Amino acid sequence: MDVNTELNTSRVATVMATIRQRIAGRNLTPGAKLPSVRAMAKASGVSTSTVVDAYERLVAEGVILSRPGSGFYVANQAAPFSLSDIGPKLDRAVDPFWVSRQSLEADDGDLKPGCGWLPPSWLPETGIRRALRTLSRADNRAFADYGSPLGLPPLRQHIARRMAERGVEASPDQIMLTESGTQAIDLLCRFLLEPDDVVLVDDPCYFNFQALLRAHRARIVSVPYTPSGPNIELFSQVVAEHRPRLYITNSAIHNPTGATLSPVAAHKVLKIADQFELTIVEDDIFADFEHTPAPRLAAFDGLDRVIHIGSFSKTLSASARCGFIAAKPEWVDALIDLKIATTFGGGRLSSELVYKVLSDGSYRKHVEALRSRLSEAMFNVSAKLKNLGIVPWLEPSAGMFLWCRLPGDVNAADVARAALERKIVLAPGNAFSLSQSAQNFMRFNVSQTLDARVFDVLRDTLRG
Ligand SMILES: Cc1ncc(COP(=O)(O)O)c(C=O)c1O
Repeated sequence: MDVNTELNTSRVATVMATIRQRIAGRNLTPGAKLPSVRAMAKASGVSTSTVVDAYERLVAEGVILSRPGSGFYVANQAAPFSLSDIGPKLDRAVDPFWVSRQSLEADDGDLKPGCGWLPPSWLPETGIRRALRTLSRADNRAFADYGSPLGLPPLRQHIARRMAERGVEASPDQIMLTESGTQAIDLLCRFLLEPDDVVLVDDPCYFNFQALLRAHRARIVSVPYTPSGPNIELFSQVVAEHRPRLYITNSAIHNPTGATLSPVAAHKVLKIADQFELTIVEDDIFADFEHTPAPRLAAFDGLDRVIHIGSFSKTLSASARCGFIAAKPEWVDALIDLKIATTFGGGRLSSELVYKVLSDGSYRKHVEALRSRLSEAMFNVSAKLKNLGIVPWLEPSAGMFLWCRLPGDVNAADVARAALERKIVLAPGNAFSLSQSAQNFMRFNVSQTLDARVFDVLRDTLRG
């Protein structure tokens, strides 16, 4: 193949991939009209003949149909819904699934400074084993029967007490257990969103907020995050302009920045929320990492506009899945119905296990030790990254994440791809950024960044 033919073939493939992706992500639904050849050529920066070639090949594959005189349409037989195209690991675009897929699919020996959880050896193994032994002797309903829809009462009481320590007042009957924090958000999206509703997120934000919102076909808008919360001026503008139904955020330890919401920002966010009837989902999953409790929106608001969620994946176990939703009493009944519709009973065994570990006196000691260990790791990793010219955006007061700027104008996605070839999973900034404005940033999980190989690979890849 000569160079020109090769170039043209790859352009045709790119146009085909773009259309397939739009169909897979439901941006183009069955029966929808494709962009005209001329428009597609202009948008993709290729010639019209390249687009014609690509469209004809997609017709031959049965993906689209040609209606002479009218244009091209998505074939009615839709491929199964896919939120992202599955491709070879290294070729994946840096999208909101990038970090999750690379971290969850990594081999045992791979290093994962980009992942969002602690190494298993940092979790309370002894407490979990003890709880498993106790459970093995429990009444067999604990491991054979469905749980009640609201969930294990003593665990809900325990959660209510812990929330009260952070100023969030809720009775145990306002707390519904879920399979996880992720399922809590999923249920709330089902509960609150109509198709095409707008949802506001922080920029950057936890990438799975975007992934999950895409699954709900929501329209997502974002506001830049500052070290003390969302940029309030822009927040107010975006809310006034787009009238989002929901705002999803982390107040205490923000993922990925490690920032903490200030009381002033919390007050202003709630004022705007009141003015525009905005509901807020406050995801408090990192609560147990805090040395001193930061302000919670749910505490100021008394669970009126704010729904508070959490889980135990980060400090107890991501395998024994258990999360919760705390909401105003009027909403709890409908949430129970939704939980029954989508999962029937709760995962009783997990909640029994989590309760046993939490109520065992050793859990408090475990989290205290964890906080010190994370502070130490934060200090050491931060210093080593700075030696490489990788500078934290802020020094977080707690938690496991360091959100860092790479030296010069290095593209984090390129660094992450190069590191992946050497079995190191990194978290490039744009996976967290709806506006794609974080290409020079990288999130590091300090608990997973202690191996010297990480810094060797970073040094090599930064050199290019
Ligand atoms: C901010 C945030 N929310 C929710 C989750 C998911 O929580 P769970 O494991 O309970 O589904 C994560 C996991 O990384 C997270 O970082």
